[in-house]
Amino acid sequence: MKLRGPARPLHGSTELCGDKSISHRALLHAALSPDESRIQNVLRAGVTTAMIDCLQKLGVSITGDGNNLIMRGGVWRQPNGPLDCGNSGTTMRLLLGALAGMPIQVDLTGTPALECRPMGRIARPLRDMGASISADRAPLSIKGGRLRGCEHHLKIASAQVKASLLLAALQADGPTTIYQPEQSRDHSERMLRNLGINVHSTASAVRLHPNGRPLPPTHLTVPGDFSSAAFLIAAAVLVPGSKVHIHGVGVNSTRTGFLDTLRAMGADISIKNCRERGGEPVADITARHSKLRAVEVRGELVVRMIDEFPIFAIMATQAEGTTTVLDASELRVKESDRIATLAGELRHMRVSITERPDGFVITGPQQLSAAMVDSQSDHRLAMSLAIGAMLADGKSRIQHSEAIRESFPGFADVLRLLGAEIY
Ligand code: S3P
Repeated sequence: MKLRGPARPLHGSTELCGDKSISHRALLHAALSPDESRIQNVLRAGVTTAMIDCLQKLGVSITGDGNNLIMRGGVWRQPNGPLDCGNSGTTMRLLLGALAGMPIQVDLTGTPALECRPMGRIARPLRDMGASISADRAPLSIKGGRLRGCEHHLKIASAQVKASLLLAALQADGPTTIYQPEQSRDHSERMLRNLGINVHSTASAVRLHPNGRPLPPTHLTVPGDFSSAAFLIAAAVLVPGSKVHIHGVGVNSTRTGFLDTLRAMGADISIKNCRERGGEPVADITARHSKLRAVEVRGELVVRMIDEFPIFAIMATQAEGTTTVLDASELRVKESDRIATLAGELRHMRVSITERPDGFVITGPQQLSAAMVDSQSDHRLAMSLAIGAMLADGKSRIQHSEAIRESFPGFADVLRLLGAEIY
């Protein structure tokens, strides 16, 4: 992908593809129901293609057109070969939870990058519940069966671990309680409650009582993805003269730490027309160009904006003062080591950034230089570097930008419609 900066003002309105986390959960819940589910506005991107392919190999019927799917699942069958989770950590982790209660043996593989990501955080508690899992990294093999309800004390606030354990808990012989150090995204809890499952949750614990019956069907319209909206919000706030509206975005507070942080930095962002879609809060967001001041981000806020740090780093380069991110060592085990990749690639754009073991420090404002940068096949890095390139003087090139298809295939088209020069 090539971009020319400095970008002209961005103007216009857009809607976004469905939320990645909610799409994954809706697909899995529908796959566990023997009745017909209908899901609208499902994210169709690399990560959900991986999930859909795996579910079909497990015997789940998935039809429909584009973003609207009709599904019928129930009891899964032994697949003919290994299931390829691609580069999707959510696919592998959530599948493991659902497979833990099924009496079949399944091999799970993925890209070399996925093989580097920790799976022990899922495998260990699932073994405690009764599943056999061959390894703590991919490729691995799972043999499920009868599960016992358990108490799990998570050391890290991970919604993927929580969602995976809840999928196993649905199939266990007694209640399961998951204690979390901080509140992570709560989409699973909301969706399961909507399906009539007895799930009680607070910021520090989630308790699920299984009812021994298969899940009822899922009927849901997936809200727009806040994590994709974050790139457009950032572009509008950063590019002088811009004003961008985004309709129908999920604004669940367990996801919107980025909004709270940008507002604390002085960004002009309004949220209107709050409503509910499938048990999730949804709203229309308007973001305008603003002058930013530096902030410190740490603690529970980190969990609520965990996917937004690559784009947040670009914003920090334009804020007056020193921005510090702490308590964010989880960034090192995402699609890339996001602290190291960010620091390395931003330095190619002549940004001065200090890496910390658990975050980074950037003093702004700084002028970004046009450069050849490499996303290291990390979709959120690629989109963040593209927004950074819009602030630079001259032509930049983002290598491995095809990774963007993993979560936001329409990224370049939407930005072009808003006025960006991308080619
Ligand atoms: C996700 C949770 C987060 C997030 C990922 C999606 C989910 O991961 O980074 O993009 O859908 O539950 P962790 O649970 O590993 O923090």
